Amino acid sequence: MLKAVRLNKFYGSLLVTDNVSLELAKGARHAVIGPNGAGKTTLFNLLTGEVKTDSGRVLIDGRDVSKKSPDQRAQAGLGRSFQKNNLFMELTALENLTTACAVSVELGRVFWRPFDSVSEVKEAAESIAEQVDLLSVLDIPVHHLSYGHQRQLEVGLALATQPKVLMLDEPTSGMSPEETTIMLNLISALPSSLTILIIEHDMDVVFGVTDRITVLDYGSVLVEGTLDEVRSSDIVRQRYLGDASS
Ligand SMILES: Nc1ncnc2c1ncn2[C@@H]1O[C@H](COP(=O)(O)OP(=O)(O)OP(=O)(O)O)[C@@H](O)[C@H]1O
Ligand SMILES: [Mg+2]
Repeated sequence: MLKAVRLNKFYGSLLVTDNVSLELAKGARHAVIGPNGAGKTTLFNLLTGEVKTDSGRVLIDGRDVSKKSPDQRAQAGLGRSFQKNNLFMELTALENLTTACAVSVELGRVFWRPFDSVSEVKEAAESIAEQVDLLSVLDIPVHHLSYGHQRQLEVGLALATQPKVLMLDEPTSGMSPEETTIMLNLISALPSSLTILIIEHDMDVVFGVTDRITVLDYGSVLVEGTLDEVRSSDIVRQRYLGDASS
């Protein structure tokens, strides 16, 4: 469903992505982990096209999108939530979701009507609200929502684009243990046909929701494999997981 072939990216003389390859089958749950500055977010930006690669290829569902824009890659099936907030703070949670759904449902013919009066869009928005566990706070302006709810809404906005591959950049960063558990549960409950690529520091989340891990270190793939393979890798234990993995 998603394939990256030998991606390279320099920022000045710094090689931040060093020959990184990645392959996700349909329905895969794949984590990218690694220390701060390892190049995880840059890898996401190369996959989505927000940052141009120096070399390498990206394929979405078998289609080569290496030369395509971020919008075209989104249309091809890549949906991403950002590490930093990109919500409409004055609008309610539902308004944020209906706006995002309206854009993706292509409502050219009814553009003069408020989005939430269009039942197709409203139903799509409410279905996503349920998936991201926000039904109880739908009518609250986003700036009054808790941090955890705001992060859940970010995942909802990514889902609104009806992606084949959902990319989440540290969805639990800054969250309390309770908020992390809610996020972990909702990610686990997403449809099994959805392919998920997730950058995550919280190893409970990684081991809880993913089945394969790519470990990045100084821009290159240190190890790639199943949870057990990564857990038992000496180099990962030394450099990243420490004794906690044993
Ligand atoms: N636009 C940019 N221009 C120059 N250097 C950059 C740029 N973006 C990132 N870098 C550098 O590239 C390296 C990788 O950054 P990146 O944000 O991809 O790391 P990360 O693994 O996501 O880190 P974190 O865990 O802190 O989010 C870092 O050394 C960073 O300083
Ligand atoms: Mg990052």
